[in-house]
Amino acid sequence: MSTSMIYFTLMCFPTFAQTSLPLVINTWSFKNATAAAWATLQAGGSVLDAVEKGCDRCQEEQCDGSVGYGGSPDESGETTLDALIMDGNTMEMGAVADLKRVKNAIGVARAIMEHTEHSMLVGESATLFAENMGFVTEDLTTAKSLDMFTQWLKGSCQPNYRKNVFPNPTKSCRPYKPVANTRMEKRLHTNIHSHDTIGIIAFDRYGHVAAGTSTNGLTHKIPGRVGDSPIVGAGAYADSSVGAAAATGDGDVMMRFLPSFLAVEMMRAGTDPSAACEMAISRIKRHYADFFGAIICANATGHYGAACNKVPGLLQFHYMVSNCESDTPLLKSVECF
Ligand code: GLY
Repeated sequence: MSTSMIYFTLMCFPTFAQTSLPLVINTWSFKNATAAAWATLQAGGSVLDAVEKGCDRCQEEQCDGSVGYGGSPDESGETTLDALIMDGNTMEMGAVADLKRVKNAIGVARAIMEHTEHSMLVGESATLFAENMGFVTEDLTTAKSLDMFTQWLKGSCQPNYRKNVFPNPTKSCRPYKPVANTRMEKRLHTNIHSHDTIGIIAFDRYGHVAAGTSTNGLTHKIPGRVGDSPIVGAGAYADSSVGAAAATGDGDVMMRFLPSFLAVEMMRAGTDPSAACEMAISRIKRHYADFFGAIICANATGHYGAACNKVPGLLQFHYMVSNCESDTPLLKSVECF
């Protein structure tokens, strides 16, 4: 019997296993991240370790180009990172936003949680904090991100996220100056490749839950832009007495509705995870029918679900699950509505 099978048997032995726990669930088909988080639990690591390892695997692999270094260059060509980690037992959290020149954003988020009394650090100051905590600083630009940036400049900086400015942002690059509301047609920017945050939830067999996120945000974003991923209650939320949720998608819209917090509160009120996820998506849909986004939810008994908003390019949402049903991560999907 292999070492991982021995660990699997020990962790999932019926005497110890409580309903469907332990459980790892994460957004998108980022299988290696699920496997890394599950292996961490199997080896006796904590749920925080599992969330950190899962996110870090995606950061290293640059999952879909939208997690980690060398992706989503902003208007100045730089890649900046956002991440969040939350402990559902203590309600402690650490978040980092607009992190520059440090690859391991989830590690920095955890360091903020464990080595400060704060909840979130941002920008150059977060980089300085990370350096002081021993994280390596390096350029996050790669040949690929440089090429994306160069092509974008050549294409008159399209798409971009400016409005009510002169020159016309649908045709020209910066610098821009503000002008009165020009009633510009609403532009649809989002697609499956510009918002693929990893959001991950890990439960141990005792029901301790942690959740986290990591992303490089939105391609061609305005420097300083922060999405939903590092915002607690938006990108993720965890409370061991209830469960956890994590979201992915158009963070500029989604953060206005705190979908992860809403889903956890729905589960607290007795709603099952799939319905809680649907309610969180419906709340956003009421105002932004064409937003791009999805959410995963899991409750303290290890039941889980997901939901997504049906838009062109997102008809079905894929996510990964590891629990005692299988010793390899399972690809799951949900039809968007
Ligand atoms: N959900 C990732 C972002 O919008 O930054």
